[in-house]
Amino acid sequence: MPTREEMITAAEAAAAQYSADGAIAIRDVMVRDRHVSLTVLGVSEGAEPSLESALREALAGAGAETVHFRFRAGDAHAEAPAQGAASAAAAAGAGRAAGEPAAAGAAAGGEAATGPVRGHGAGLEAHPLLRAGSGVQFIAIASGKGGVGKSTVTVNLAVALARKGKRVGIIDADIYGFSVPDMMGIEDRPKIVNERVIPIEKFGVQVMSMGFFVEDNAPIVWRGPMLGKMLRNFFQEIEWGELDYLLLDLPPGTGDVALDVHQLIPQSKEIIVTTPHATAAFVAARAGAMAIKTEHEIIGVIENMSHFVSKSGEVEYVFGRGGGARLAESLNSELLAQIPLGAPDNHPSEPDFSPSVYKAETENGKLYLEVADRVIAKCEASA
Ligand SMILES: Nc1ncnc2c1ncn2[C@@H]1O[C@H](COP(=O)(O)OP(=O)(O)OP(=O)(O)O)[C@@H](O)[C@H]1O
Ligand SMILES: [Mg+2]
Repeated sequence: MPTREEMITAAEAAAAQYSADGAIAIRDVMVRDRHVSLTVLGVSEGAEPSLESALREALAGAGAETVHFRFRAGDAHAEAPAQGAASAAAAAGAGRAAGEPAAAGAAAGGEAATGPVRGHGAGLEAHPLLRAGSGVQFIAIASGKGGVGKSTVTVNLAVALARKGKRVGIIDADIYGFSVPDMMGIEDRPKIVNERVIPIEKFGVQVMSMGFFVEDNAPIVWRGPMLGKMLRNFFQEIEWGELDYLLLDLPPGTGDVALDVHQLIPQSKEIIVTTPHATAAFVAARAGAMAIKTEHEIIGVIENMSHFVSKSGEVEYVFGRGGGARLAESLNSELLAQIPLGAPDNHPSEPDFSPSVYKAETENGKLYLEVADRVIAKCEASA
């Protein structure tokens, strides 16, 4: 399997033949199995086709099976020298004119961008959490359809990672359908210090949600551009402090927010949640395909509501069987866990009550600790 370094070396050697003065730069190189994607900066007009075929040949020679290019005119020297993760965000931001509407994820969709790339990532590339080498692992929790347990998984995985001693945050990126504060039993509202919003901490997890800024659960009616700005604000205006993991609870499906997450956080990894039903897994595969298209690494699948264990210990497959395993296989990924049906046995009279967080010593609580171990192992192996 070709490594990223091998691809960079091959691409740069080929590009050097076309730019004696180093005007062409290779950025955002991502390698997944034998699939490579990269951005080429500083190509003069008319030179693209021949450079592209030279690059294709060089990369194929180094072991790439498919190569996806993004060509950008821009000045190679104006880019950050790091090949790191944030440079894609930097590229996304480059050239955006103030007040222009954001392009609907043209670059994020995987097509070669022709004009200047605009996006919600503009100017955020130096943010302490988003810049290359920040050490923060971003994990977006996605699903093909609603109600399969994304938010439940987000909240419980975050708490489990915190129980393992990690510094964890959650962005409730389901801007319309926020549910994280309620699920965790958060009743406080964030404080503002020096014009920065301090996330709410519960069970050792820093939480930010639109729900904190809405009075009496009033519905929010916002259009696309506003949505992207909200996500941006969740970085710009929030005092996150230092984090090891930042989990994003995505809205269901494959809409704008997923694209925005890609633009803003190209280095994000993803976990896909499904129920065991064949149809649910089929729909979830679309979210997986989206993750692959936006070049987010899928670290695994969680099959939620997997089965029901009766009091006598019998296992019933209420929603069918096998969806999670099949989905993991089709995404060339791993089934991280099968979480059975069962609401947490928490009582509102308890001091730290939450409706959706499983206690560490319960069966589901232990399962989430195992998921946390696997996630940590996977993320630390690739860090
Ligand atoms: N393993 C489980 N056992 C029992 N109930 C569960 C389980 N997982 C989730 N639920 C319940 O199912 C409902 C949907 O879960 P959740 O809100 O986490 O899904 P979601 O995918 O985030 O939904 P949405 O798409 O609406 O955001 C909630 O009421 C939640 O408490
Ligand atoms: Mg949800």
